Amino acid sequence: MPVKAVVGMQWGDEGKGKIVDVLSADAELVVRAAGGSNAGHTIIRGGKKTVLHLVPSGILHEYTRCLLGAGMVIEPQRLREELDVLEQFGTPRVRQRVGVDPQAMLILPWHKSLEHVREARPDARGTTLRGIGPAYESRASRLGIPLALLAHPELLQTSLEALFLDYAPIFELGQEPVITPAALHAELMEVASWLVPMFTDVSLETARASSEGRTVLLEGAQGVMLDTLHGTYPFVTSSSTVFGGLLSGIGLGHGAVSEVVGVCKAYATRVGHGPFPTELDDDNGRHLAAFGGEYGATTGRLRRCGWLDAVALRKAVRLVGTTALALTKVDVLCDLPEVRVAVAYEDADGRPVADFPCDPYRVADLKPVYRSFAPWATPAPGEPLPDALSEYISFLEGFTRTPVSLVSWGPDRSQTLLRDASGVCRSLDA
Ligand code: GDP
Ligand code: IMO
Ligand code: MG
Repeated sequence: MPVKAVVGMQWGDEGKGKIVDVLSADAELVVRAAGGSNAGHTIIRGGKKTVLHLVPSGILHEYTRCLLGAGMVIEPQRLREELDVLEQFGTPRVRQRVGVDPQAMLILPWHKSLEHVREARPDARGTTLRGIGPAYESRASRLGIPLALLAHPELLQTSLEALFLDYAPIFELGQEPVITPAALHAELMEVASWLVPMFTDVSLETARASSEGRTVLLEGAQGVMLDTLHGTYPFVTSSSTVFGGLLSGIGLGHGAVSEVVGVCKAYATRVGHGPFPTELDDDNGRHLAAFGGEYGATTGRLRRCGWLDAVALRKAVRLVGTTALALTKVDVLCDLPEVRVAVAYEDADGRPVADFPCDPYRVADLKPVYRSFAPWATPAPGEPLPDALSEYISFLEGFTRTPVSLVSWGPDRSQTLLRDASGVCRSLDA
């Protein structure tokens, strides 16, 4: 069963875009399940950079079909911009190859206005301001506007009016300019003209491709520690980012999936607010930010940087059922005097803590206990991995009980090594 899932194992931005691009070279289908344009997935090929927010990261492969699943929240204007840019850069048959599930939810200007009002308050969460949270709230309240309504103009009108009733009291308090339901309806009718022809049953297409033995890749967004249930609530996103979230967002049973690849940076980053036990506010942290190019692919915000938290990673492996890890950005740690990994914590009273707490309010008080590793030189193509890097990888494999099957040592797809069970690496094209 050639269905593989790719999941972010930390706080997002682990390099999923690159790994999906690499793994989808022979995929017929790449499917996104959840989130929206809060995601920013970067692909670099031959020095050319593509950042995708909604369209799955298989789109640069000419014959790969890319689907946006029912669990997603979609701002049509952003989708159109992304399709236009891909076309302008010469990507072939973009609109024929992208399909959208009509059960995905629309992100409307009202959702974004509400988020702006909330994020201006002192208890802001540091979101991407893309309207993600409010759009998922609308879905949960059963007042959301699924894309399907674009094909039902009269129902769309009454549904917009009903949703607006919920938002009107909020707008009376805020300063945000507000578009009326009638004006929004007119805008959405224009959206319908190009978006409705892209509708498809993503669940059915995915299941059919899988049962016919075609190669399918499920592309996770965000990362496990941002999961709405299991992450560091309330500093999380509003969707399920674990493997189960991918399945429900697409509408697929777990039996179809043979491999779940967890993407993990060799260090850790986080954007937005929230606890981050291994965060570094020193020269090492600044080195990681500078050499790792740690600026958000969506918002341009500087990412907070720290050492790899193997305790959090072990929790992520448990939540996801990861069958293999893809370790990215190992090159960024090359020039440091030492490399550290958190292997346990101490709480505020100095008591040992072995596992990442399920009480998210305890996380801010944790002090990491580190294990130190020797730094390594940049891996060279055709050469075995540097010993110090092999040692680091073997430690992570033992700690998480998960094999590292892929090592990424630079942003380009050519800077990728496939690693077998005995630790022998070969470059992607060998
Ligand atoms: P995603 O959200 O998980 O797809 O990750 P992002 O694209 O937001 O951020 C990852 C960043 O790291 C991008 O700028 C990638 O081009 C870059 N990147 C990916 N893998 C590597 C790697 O192995 N080494 C280096 N130096 N950069 C990488
Ligand atoms: P990719 O797919 C990193 C973070 C935001 C904020 C929190 C909630 O590129 O890895 P939201 O706008 O979702 O309500 O914001 O989640 N966040 C991400 N951080 N990478 C992402 O996606 C993220 N998507 C959301 O910064 O802290
Ligand atoms: Mg990203």
